[in-house]
This record gives sequence, structure tokens and C-alpha cells, in this order.
Amino acid sequence: MDKRPIGIFDSGVGGMTVLSEIKKCFPNEDLIYLGDTKNFPYGDKSKDTVIKIATKCAGFLIAKNVKLIIIACGTATSQALNVLKNTYKVPIIGIITPTIESIKSDKNLLKENRIGVIATEGTIRSNKWDEELKSEIKNVEVISKACPLLAPMAEQGWTSNGIAKEAIKEYMKPFKEEPIDAIILGCTHYPLFAKLIREELGKNVKIINTGEKIAEFLQEYLINCELINDEKNVGKCTYYLTDTECNFIQVAGNLLQDKTIQDKIIKIDIE
Ligand code: DGL
Repeated sequence: MDKRPIGIFDSGVGGMTVLSEIKKCFPNEDLIYLGDTKNFPYGDKSKDTVIKIATKCAGFLIAKNVKLIIIACGTATSQALNVLKNTYKVPIIGIITPTIESIKSDKNLLKENRIGVIATEGTIRSNKWDEELKSEIKNVEVISKACPLLAPMAEQGWTSNGIAKEAIKEYMKPFKEEPIDAIILGCTHYPLFAKLIREELGKNVKIINTGEKIAEFLQEYLINCELINDEKNVGKCTYYLTDTECNFIQVAGNLLQDKTIQDKIIKIDIE
């Protein structure tokens, strides 16, 4: 039993797709979310820069006495997870391992041998999904595609308008030319486009949302590591942003269906 909060961070609103899944499965856990909106986007930054800013984000959450950190960001997971794990003692989980563990334990998913991965430039450049999928799953073929416009569009709330439709159509082309069995949304902003991706790829392609996979992974992890909070009270969510001149309130409020989110946001400096 551990009543301390779970810390979650991303460059902006994307990690809220992970937070919303965790909140659904663990309504009694206290959650602290850090949206590093000042440094958004992470996807086009160098590995060194991503490591520096992710180290500050994790340091901020540790100072808030979190029991666990979830890197709700594909870019920071693929480039900074190992450094953060070597720097801090608190357990740190990224989005790649829980997703691959879930694929491995799902007989239906395991049969899929052509898996698409869409993510930011930085994540695709790191080659982490490709490497880890191939080292964990036999005979898997990985087709990766960077979609650099999607995270900035999601921050704007442009996830269902005509521009979003055109962008998804363009980015899904390689997966229609050489069809895939499943697609991993390797950036946490992308579940906000899931409906358009489904329309474009059709119902036979499985869409893998990393937030759902992390929530599944935590079911056993929190119990095994004695980190679960088994209080019956509804947990508290606090949101910290490094800049508030952004659409976070609107996009995150819609995602969580929370009209009071504005009152739970605190502006901070992590420099
Ligand atoms: N949501 C993030 C990711 O999963 C970051 C996107 C960005 O900041 O470019 O990669």
C-alpha cells in the first residue's frame, strides 16, 4: 500500500491520453501530470536536448514525492528512458515496454506479423520500436513512419477537421500500399486521431493505444511492487504546465470531459 501519487509527464497534452486510461483503471490513485508545454515539441529536438529536458521533468516529479514516474511520451521514452533510470532511484516506466509486453501476452496480437509504427521524427530516428519489437517478437516485420505534423495539430485541437483528415490520409499511404495487421500509435498525441486512422485503414487493422497498454501493465506492476493505493477515496489529479499560453485546457478538458480542469492547473518553471 503506497498512497503517494503517480507522476506522469509529456511535452504537452499528448500524455493526457495515458493519464485518462490510468484514471479509468485506478480512480483512487492520486496523479500528478507535468505538461512541459514550454519545450513543446520534443519530437524535432536532438537526443541530448530531450535527455536534458526529460531529466528536469523527472526531477520535478520526484521533488513532488511521486512513487512512480510514467514517461507518457514516445520521444522521451525512446531517447531518455535509460538515462533517467540510471539517474534516479524511483521506478520509471516508458511507453514501449508495456506495449510490447501486452502484444506478447495477447495471442491474437502476437499473430500479427506486419506492424506499423507511427511516431515523431525523434522516436523513429531512435529506431527503438523497431529494435525492441524485433528482439521480443519472432518474425515481426516493422514498418515505421514519422508523422511530424500530428502532435502540433493535436495541441491546436485540430484532430477531426479537414486538415487533420488530409494529414492522416497522407501519413497512412505507406500502410495502404503495403497493408499491415496492426498499427502502434507510438506518440501519445496520436490516440486523438484514432477515429480518422480507423476510417483510413479500415476495421481489420488493430490500433494499439499505448495509454491502454500502460494501464493494463500497471494492474500487475503496482501490486507486485507494493505500490498500489487501496484507499477507496477518489484520487486527486493535479496538472502542472511549464507554459500556459497554449490550448491545453481546451484539449485536455474535452478529453477528460472535465469542465473544471482550469482550476487544477498550476504554472511552474522547471529550468
Ligand atoms: N507526445 C509525445 C510523444 O509521444 C511528444 C510529441 C512532441 O512533443 O513532439 O512523442
